[in-house]
Amino acid sequence: MSNVLTYIDENLGTFREELFDFLRIPSVSAKAEHDPDMRRAAEWLAGRMTEAGLEAEVLETEWHPIVLGEWHGAGKDAPTVLIYGHYDVQPPEPVDLWSSPPFEPTVRDGRIYARGAADDKGQVFMHLKAVQAHMKATGRLPVNIVMIVEGEEEVGSPNLVPFVKAHANRLACDTMVVSDSDMYAEGMPSLLFSLRGLAYFEIHVRGPKSDLHSGSYGGAVANPANALAAIVASLKDGSGRVAIPGFYDDVLEWDEETRAQIRSLPHSDEEYRNELGVPALSGEVGYSTLERLWIRPTCDVNGLLSGYAGEGAKTVLPSKAMAKLSFRLVPDQTPERVRELLEAHLESVRPEGVTVELVELHGGRPWRAQIEGHLFDAAAAALEQAFQTRPVLQGEGGSIPIVVEFEETLGAPAVLIGFALPGCNMHAPDEWLSVENFEKGIRALAVLYGRLAD
Ligand code: BES
Ligand code: MN
Ligand code: MN
Repeated sequence: MSNVLTYIDENLGTFREELFDFLRIPSVSAKAEHDPDMRRAAEWLAGRMTEAGLEAEVLETEWHPIVLGEWHGAGKDAPTVLIYGHYDVQPPEPVDLWSSPPFEPTVRDGRIYARGAADDKGQVFMHLKAVQAHMKATGRLPVNIVMIVEGEEEVGSPNLVPFVKAHANRLACDTMVVSDSDMYAEGMPSLLFSLRGLAYFEIHVRGPKSDLHSGSYGGAVANPANALAAIVASLKDGSGRVAIPGFYDDVLEWDEETRAQIRSLPHSDEEYRNELGVPALSGEVGYSTLERLWIRPTCDVNGLLSGYAGEGAKTVLPSKAMAKLSFRLVPDQTPERVRELLEAHLESVRPEGVTVELVELHGGRPWRAQIEGHLFDAAAAALEQAFQTRPVLQGEGGSIPIVVEFEETLGAPAVLIGFALPGCNMHAPDEWLSVENFEKGIRALAVLYGRLAD
């Protein structure tokens, strides 16, 4: 193991340069204009996998390619570890709010700034370098490796689930490792005990066939913007709970041990409030901030569109209105059930004089970790060795829908180890990854592969 760690130490400078090449490719999955960049990123990654000693392949899907890297030289008696990540990134907009261009990686104050530095190209790259370190320093890996990196995570992974089902044999593994999340705080590595799920919709409200003069018609014709506002207002009650009948039926009440674990983490509501610049925190009555984020479901409007929002006044009665709406789900809720409940709710609150259409964009089930056993112990020990402190257990409010699908299809448990830090601006301007975590993270992962073989 010491050779492996020495190899990492001696090559950190090269690793950083290579990561910058990866980050310079604008692999934005959502926009067709970046399709050639997506392919370039996939091929770049396959090239680095080959250099690291994996057998790499770029596999076509109906949209963005999947990159697969394999090595089975550890033999039948050694475990097979599947590493999952994504090389696609969120659009960088609004670009003018970035302090340096999103696809020109820059180091400032010990942080690597670039779109994808944290989510998830930087973390995928760390795994790859940990693999490479074993191969170059010892000529082999302690475990068999299947590394699967997709290009559609940020757009709901439409082609990955069918791919995993169709290639379950090729992806067969004993454990999965995913690095696409945060640590609890600087110097406080963590392992996830949960991820929230997601159910994402658009609600389209339609009224008169064209916009109308709000003086000539207002009061006699239903206004779709008013109607949508009423619908949105009906989704939550005054105590911060989702007001859709049946919504909490499948919500698991977490055990006291987990709640005690959450309470034991250092957290200040006042600091959190200040960091975010809000006048007060707000959420479901009876739960702490961390509980609201990790073990309770919620509903948020993500976008609203209607009427005139330009300069000055325009007296218009808009013909339509649209809201983008997402629910974060917790075990044992499912996006399918939430859709049924939402449909019934919309039917019961639909204002007179408009039509309401519900369109589902994507969804994913919540995930709960198996926090006992060799995998978890090995991950904790690896983090402790690299960061010189025991990792804490934390939940996660975001979603990585594919984790549940992998576990079910492949029958192997996942461990989620994140190296981003809170406030790292995933999906926002000035996304960053700490240089320290980049370096310690590569070491931790290299140690982890070794421990998984024990
Ligand atoms: N890496 C994130 C999930 C995440 C965010 C984990 C923050 C931990 C901390 C992932 O790429 C992501 O953005 N997921 C989406 C869902 C997806 C279906 C678009 C999300 O959570 O909104
Ligand atoms: Mn991600
Ligand atoms: Mn993301």
